[in-house]
Amino acid sequence: MTDPRPVERWDTDFDVLSPTYIEDPFSIWDELRRTCPVAHSDRRGSTWLPTRYRDVVDVAHNVEGFSSSDITVIPLNLERGDQRVLQNGLPPLSADPPLHTWTRRILLPWFSHQRVDSYELFTRKLCGELLDGFIADGTVDAGTEYARQIPVRVIADILGVPVSMSHTFTGWVQDILEFTDEPAIRRRGIEGLVGLFSKEVERRKPQPGDDLLSDLLHTEVDGVAVEEGVVLGIAALVLIAGIDTTWSAIGSSLWHLATHPEDRDRLVADPGIMPTAIEEFLRAYSPVTTARVVTEDVEFARCPMKAGDKVLMSFPAANRDPEAFEDADRVIIDRDLNRHVAFGSGIHRCAGSNLARIQIRVALEEWLQRIPTFRLADAGEVTWSGGRREDPTT
Ligand code: HEM
Repeated sequence: MTDPRPVERWDTDFDVLSPTYIEDPFSIWDELRRTCPVAHSDRRGSTWLPTRYRDVVDVAHNVEGFSSSDITVIPLNLERGDQRVLQNGLPPLSADPPLHTWTRRILLPWFSHQRVDSYELFTRKLCGELLDGFIADGTVDAGTEYARQIPVRVIADILGVPVSMSHTFTGWVQDILEFTDEPAIRRRGIEGLVGLFSKEVERRKPQPGDDLLSDLLHTEVDGVAVEEGVVLGIAALVLIAGIDTTWSAIGSSLWHLATHPEDRDRLVADPGIMPTAIEEFLRAYSPVTTARVVTEDVEFARCPMKAGDKVLMSFPAANRDPEAFEDADRVIIDRDLNRHVAFGSGIHRCAGSNLARIQIRVALEEWLQRIPTFRLADAGEVTWSGGRREDPTT
């Protein structure tokens, strides 16, 4: 359940699900960087929150000291029913070497530049159809009706699962990522995903297709077939990691352009700056925070961390660090030096970044071409997700 106690001290008692944090984390990170760059909280087990770029990158690169065995920002607390996926976790993301190394190696070719380029046309056609569906109306919920509709269909196609089930996939992924404090709802999402992928795996055993799921099922590592539990974990990860992240990035980019007409007009007039604009949107509105587990007692950045403590990997906070970025809180769409860590850093750096970039670019290009002028219909309607939404089934 969400912690009802208001936060009085962000340095010793932070809460990333607090409405204050969700509404404006930027000023909290700024204050913490000045006063206590690695904050601590006991609200959901002993947890540390580094806010400086260099500390987040250091943790990401110290694989022995900081394990990926539990990458959840909010502990899962699942009781039963999720064993098949969770036994093997969601590799490579939730794995340390050696499991990490070979599962990542299997996945990477599916997201190489060459391979994901073939998805450009698919994405462009999809965006065109979505725009056709609402352009005449004059207003649209761009988050729900546009951004959220794009990545799920692309990923379903890559995995080889029915694209017609996009709505159901979206619901499951939201159950897992947005109801972060509600074990029963998270379990519903995980069981849904695992149930579907198990059926799809059975179907492919006698008759493999040319999709990622078939490839995983028929891949051998050192002459041995990949265990089915690992196949299910990788497939679930691709769906979870591939859709919520990218739709958030498309949604926040459109929000920025709706609220900053000077940037919107500039991008329409000079589409050549699209690549730097996308990197800047990724930096400024980074959608992904994960976690690490401290493997043994250590002093890190003058903090006494204990084995088993969690460390939140706030890539979004790192990307707003003024020590790493000039004018860190300004969105500069032609910023040239931009070593952001929105896709992470080190061995777990995002495997799908090529695909994500194509989808964001195509989604923005198609939108701007058809809708070069737009604004928020009602700014009060826009909310930022911090891991909760109303459950439509209750
Ligand atoms: C804007 C969109 C995206 C963002 C911001 C993003 C961000 C990230 C981040 C920060 C990590 C590292 C997490 C950590 O170190 O704990 C990561 C890992 C990963 N991402 Fe993405 N991601 C995006 C899109 C995608 C897409 C489209 C896919 C495709 C399926 C994908 C697949 C993965 C996988 C498989 C990993 C695990 C890599 C490993 O552990 O070696 N991501 N992503």
